[in-house]
Amino acid sequence: MLSVRDLVVAYGHVQAVRSVSFDVPRGSLVTLVGANGAGKTSVLNAVAGLVRPRAGRVLFDGNDITGTPAHRLVAAGLVQVPEGREILATLTVEENLQLGTWHRRGRPERIPQMYHRFPVLGDRRHLQAGSLSGGEQQMLAIARALVADPVVLLLDEPSMGLAPKVVDEVFRVIEEIRADGTTVLLVEQNARRALRAADYGYVLETGEVAHHGVAADLLRDERVIEAYLGLE
Ligand SMILES: Nc1ncnc2c1ncn2[C@@H]1O[C@H](COP(=O)(O)OP(=O)(O)OP(=O)(O)O)[C@@H](O)[C@H]1O
Ligand SMILES: [Mg+2]
Repeated sequence: MLSVRDLVVAYGHVQAVRSVSFDVPRGSLVTLVGANGAGKTSVLNAVAGLVRPRAGRVLFDGNDITGTPAHRLVAAGLVQVPEGREILATLTVEENLQLGTWHRRGRPERIPQMYHRFPVLGDRRHLQAGSLSGGEQQMLAIARALVADPVVLLLDEPSMGLAPKVVDEVFRVIEEIRADGTTVLLVEQNARRALRAADYGYVLETGEVAHHGVAADLLRDERVIEAYLGLE
C-alpha cells in the first residue's frame, strides 16, 4: 500500500532522515518508533507531502507520489493526524470536524458517525475544542482525519502527553480503525505500546532504521529492549 525507498530528508545542513526504507502492506498496522529527534515526524511529513524529500521515493498504491502536495494526497486517501493534534482551539468540536470535509474526499455524513463512535465528542459538539482534555482533543484530531475517509491513516505520536488510562483508550481506537480495514502507519515514542498494537515495526535511530521486524519479535529482542523498552 505504502512503500518508502531510500528516503532522505534534510533541513539545510541537518540530515534528519538518511536513507530510510520501509513498507506498509494493505490493511496492516506498521509502527515507526524512536527517541526524540530520531526523524519520525520528518519521515511522516515527507510521506504526507508536507516536506519535500532530498532523495528517495514514496509509493502509494503503486504510484510514485514523491513530492506530491499534501492536499492532493489527502484527496487520494492518505490522511495525517499531526503531531500535537493541531485542533483549532477557538472553534467548536463540530467546526473542527467540518474542517475534515473541506476537500473533495471529505464526507459530511461521517460527522454524525464520529459522534456515535466518540460519544464524548457528540456531547461536546458545540463547545470550544480548546476546552477539551488532552485525550478528548486527540480523539477529535483522529475523528477529523476519519471524516476524510482515509485509505492510509498516518498518526504522529497520538499518545503524547496523555495519562496511561487515556493512552489505552487511544490505542483501542487505533486498533479499531485498523480492524475496520484502514491501513495505519503509527509513529510513536511509546515503543512498547506501539509495538504491542502493530504487526511490524521499524526502530529509527538518528535518521536511520536501526532494527526492524515483526512487532512481537522486536518486543523480545534484547537490543531493542535494552535501548528502547527498558523494564516495565
Ligand atoms: N523544520 C526543521 N528545521 C530544522 N531542523 C529540523 C526541522 N524539523 C526537524 N528538524 C531536525 O531534524 C531532526 C529530526 O526531527 P524530527 O522532528 O523528525 O524527529 P522526531 O523523531 O519526530 O522527534 P520527536 O519525537 O521529538 O517528535 C532533529 O534533529 C530536528 O531538530
Ligand atoms: Mg516528532
